[in-house]
Order: sequence, then structure tokens, then C-alpha cells
Amino acid sequence: MTTILVTGGAGYIGSHTVIELVNAGYEPIIYDNFYNAKKTVLKRINTILGREVKCIEGDIRDAQKLDLVFSQNKIDGVINFAGLKAVGESVKMPLEYYDNNVNGARVLLSAMLKHNCKNFIFSSSATVYGEPDSVPLTENSPLKRANCPYGQTKVDIEYMCQELQVAHNDFSMVLLRYFNPVGAHKSGLIGEDPKGVPNNLMPYLTQVAVGRLKELSIFGNDYPTKDGTCIRDYIHVVDLALGHVAALKHCLNKPGCHIYNLGTGTGYSVLDMVKAFSKAIGYELPHKFAPRRAGDVVECYADPSKAKNELGWVATRTLDDMTFDSYNWQKNNPNGYED
Ligand code: NAD
Ligand code: UD1
Repeated sequence: MTTILVTGGAGYIGSHTVIELVNAGYEPIIYDNFYNAKKTVLKRINTILGREVKCIEGDIRDAQKLDLVFSQNKIDGVINFAGLKAVGESVKMPLEYYDNNVNGARVLLSAMLKHNCKNFIFSSSATVYGEPDSVPLTENSPLKRANCPYGQTKVDIEYMCQELQVAHNDFSMVLLRYFNPVGAHKSGLIGEDPKGVPNNLMPYLTQVAVGRLKELSIFGNDYPTKDGTCIRDYIHVVDLALGHVAALKHCLNKPGCHIYNLGTGTGYSVLDMVKAFSKAIGYELPHKFAPRRAGDVVECYADPSKAKNELGWVATRTLDDMTFDSYNWQKNNPNGYED
């Protein structure tokens, strides 16, 4: 049995990945400080799987606790989802972001080294590419200095991982650059439950649909795109979770630094998303045009061919799957996990 410590495993992407890990025959252990997760998610995961998944409450910056976890469990690899991810908040609290994300990853990697665990998968982001010079983005597209502390923590952790892999070349280091994760598990039991008013498009759409918010403001309709709104590569969270399973299968105990884009390769505009979402709910979602949002890139989508060729992974879920599953989750849980 291959045991994987899933830090941040109670969060949005982590919870979906835990399910796909079990489905693929891996044994996950969730390690989360519940800063941005609710305990109910654990019950929901167990309901979906029909069995209990082990969970340890803890912080990735807590070296002593991690020491205990690695001593008491035979851990073959770590997937690190633990991190703070709100762009606006990161501008207001940069030190907290560098501490939680960069220092957290450093403490976690130190514990792994100490316990001779040399398989690490890191949740990176397309944000490391900044404003792209050209699209689609390949893994060789240049990294840019990020326009907010959150994004910069991703760039910094990527460099730290690569440098550690040079120093310890028996390490298998996997950097997965996610494009825009949306959607939810088919059951409608787990999904995205952001704190406060959502910053991201899909949770905003779902909260308008259930009446928690009045209407969507579309940030900018004068961009140089087909309809004037920004283009993104939205990817279903279950496809993303399966990308982690594929990376694990391919890279476990394979020394090196392995970098993959996880996206669909298709860009949709904000208006495409509103149209698709309106189709899922059966009426036109209330929306209006608003000024551009500072820091937005115009167009960002992946060339996912490296993941296809090397991992045998492709995203198969459609835009209709993404909008339907997101809405299904929110409809069943209008106020999220509620604990
Ligand atoms: P999330 O907030 O739902 O999940 C993160 C989890 O980590 C939460 O359960 C939180 O409680 C936990 N956590 C935070 N700090 C911790 C710490 N110090 N110790 C232990 N646990 C801690 O976020 P998500 O959307 O599931 O994202 C997971 C990862 O993927 C993050 O690193 C995020 O930056 C990255 N990512 C997310 C997106 C996205 O759009 N959701 C895009 C690209 C990259
Ligand atoms: C944002 C972050 C990015 C982070 C990612 C995942 C910014 C500038 N970028 O990316 O760093 O990695 O989330 O957490 O915040 N939109 C609206 N109205 C809304 C919300 C969004 O029109 O209420 C538009 C945005 O302008 C954008 C698109 O929808 O064009 C997608 O936005 P979002 O879901 O926030 O993702 P990103 O901008 O790609």
C-alpha cells in the first residue's frame, strides 16, 4: 500500500484528490489545520468513499508535529495543497503569505528529508507565468515576477523545490501548474466553499444562482479578445484530481524535477462562462459590465500536451460538466458546509 500525506487535504482541491487517490488504490492521510476548511468535509469524504480516511489536524509549519506524523506513519510521498490563496488578502498580509506558503513548504520539505521521504507534489499555478508573452503556455514559457504576494509565493516555492532537487538528486519533485479549477464532485457532497464574498468567477456565479449574491460584475469588456472579456482555461476539479493520480503513478520514486501544466488547452471568455452557466440553471444569470480588475491577465490557457504525452493524462470533462457540477454542489449546499 502506498501511503500519501495530503497536506491541505480538507480543502477544495485536496478533498477531491483524496477521493481519486482512494479510487486508484492509494492510502491518503489528510493533514490540515482547518484554517480554510470545515470538519464536515471529512464526513462527506467518508460518505462518498464508504470508508474512513485518516485525518490529522496540524500545521505544515509545525516541525514537531510533522516529526511525529512521519515517525508514526510510513509515508511514501506528500502532496502539498496547504496554503493561503486569496490574492487580495495576500496584498494586505504579505508576511502571513510568505510564512504560511513558503516557510510552510520549507518546514514540510525539511521533515521529509529528515525521514527520507523523497516524493513531493506541489500545487503550483498558472499564475507563475504572469502576463503571457504568447498562448498557449507550455512548461517552457518564462516565469515572471508575480503581481501579488500570493503569486510570488508560488514562484518562490517552485525555485526552492528545484534547488532542493539539485542538492538531493534522488528526490522526485513534481510541480503541477493548475489553470482555473472549477466544478465539484458528481455527488454534490463536496465542492468549493470560499470564505466571504468569492473572488473567483465560478463560486460567484453559483452564489448568484442560489440568491446569496445579486448579480455578477464582469470585470472589463474592452480587452483585445473575441468578446472583450478575459480568457481562461477552466478545468474540472475531478480532472485536476486525476492529474495528481497520474503524476503520482508516473513520478513516484523517479528522481528529477517534473513540471506539468494541468489545463484543458481550451480558453473560454467570461461571457462564454456566463452563457454556459445560464444554460445549466435554465435562465440568464443576472450580470453587468464593470471596470477591469487590477492585475488581471488578458488571456491564459495551457498547452497540456506534455502531461498527455508523459503522464497519459487529459482533462475529459466538458464546460457543461463544470457548470452543472458547480451549480449542483451549491444548490445542495446553498451556504456551503455550514459548520
Ligand atoms: P483551499 O483553501 O480550499 O485548501 C487549502 C487547504 O490548506 C485548506 O483546507 C486549509 O485549511 C489548509 N491549510 C492552509 N494553510 C495550512 C497550513 N499552514 N497547514 C496545514 N493546512 C493548511 O484551496 P484550494 O483551492 O484547494 O487550493 C489548494 C492549493 O492549490 C493551494 O496551494 C492553492 O494555492 C493552489 N492553487 C489553487 C488554485 C485555485 O484556483 N483553487 C489555482 C492554482 C493553485
Ligand atoms: C485569480 C487570481 C490568480 C489565482 C487564481 C486562483 C487575480 C488577479 N488572479 O485568477 O492569481 O491564481 O485566481 O485562485 O485575482 N471575473 C469577473 N467577475 C468576478 C470574478 C472574476 O468578471 O466576480 C473574471 C476575472 O476578471 C477573470 C475571470 O473572471 O477574467 C476569472 O477570474 P478568477 O476566477 O478570479 O481567476 P483568475 O483571474 O484566473
